[in-house]
Amino acid sequence: MVETVQINEVGLRDGLQIQPQFVPTAGKLELCGALIDAGVRKIEATSFVSPKAVPQMADAGELFPALPMRAGVHYSALVPNEKGYERARAAGADTVALVIATTETFNRRNINMSFAEALAVNQAVIARARADGVHARAYISGAFVCPYEGVTPLARLLDLTERLLDAGADEVGIADTIGAGHPKQCQEIFSAIVGRWGAERFSAHFHDTRAMGLVLAWVALQEGIRKLDSSIGGLGGCPFAPGAAGNLATEDLVFMLEQSDYRTGIDVAGLRAAVAIAERLLGRPLGGRITPWWRAQAKKAAAE
Ligand code: COA
Ligand code: ZN
Repeated sequence: MVETVQINEVGLRDGLQIQPQFVPTAGKLELCGALIDAGVRKIEATSFVSPKAVPQMADAGELFPALPMRAGVHYSALVPNEKGYERARAAGADTVALVIATTETFNRRNINMSFAEALAVNQAVIARARADGVHARAYISGAFVCPYEGVTPLARLLDLTERLLDAGADEVGIADTIGAGHPKQCQEIFSAIVGRWGAERFSAHFHDTRAMGLVLAWVALQEGIRKLDSSIGGLGGCPFAPGAAGNLATEDLVFMLEQSDYRTGIDVAGLRAAVAIAERLLGRPLGGRITPWWRAQAKKAAAE
């Protein structure tokens, strides 16, 4: 049976936030246009965070209103607090992504809040989003492993998930922020979550630090998850999570899905054009695990 999977492209946010060189707003818009041309329909475009914390996102207020408006394309923006929410709303966002980590230390390092403060801020922003008719997705960072406190106990993850759902989150994003999860843990997590709440309100977010990205995505799919985050060219990492390397690459994920009777609406060849733009903007080679095969194919075609 052919099934649809929704890809949420996070390269412009999770992908760029760790890059040391500032990518000008026009370059971000060019990359966004190429992603849309490839068929991407959900894009996390930026974050309304402190420009001191993440200088790459300092242009969020200019970028967001300039994003190409195309039928069926939905943008979101990450907001860490009420000020971020207000900035995102002023820029026209109707979907926001909140963030809370599973541990005391990770919240402190990432958003300078205790766990309790982060939860209260998430609850307050979700309540405002509900009142405003804004879609609220809450990311749980370190859902698998915290970079500071180690493996996350499943009970702690489920407890936080429940609190975010109770607060009224439309979606909860289960994030393996440092790419330290393994397939068995992934199966346990999503089997517990889907068994308790169903799959509809959940998405999964993987990093490829230890080459587990695709496997974890496959496991989540088999547990019923149909919403996955990925990043063009495998760009990514969190500046406040030591060990976080690139995200699961969109081209790898789309290739795997399209080969396996899942439909994403995204054209893999179109993603190559987007990777080429990202490479130009960052001045270095990028690309997921499919890249050597892509290059070999191109060489073969050129020789023929
Ligand atoms: N957008 C822009 N500026 C913001 C802001 C926001 N969402 N929230 C706070 N600020 C500003 C304040 O206005 C203040 O500015 P000032 O120094 O000019 O007066 C300054 O930041 C400090 O404010 P404060 O509330 O004390 O924040 P903080 O220093 O405790 O930092 C965060 C908290 C959440 C703003 C900051 O840690 C942050 O932006 N983190 C984002 C981390 C991130 O993006 N991680 C990766 C994604 S998960
Ligand atoms: Zn991430």
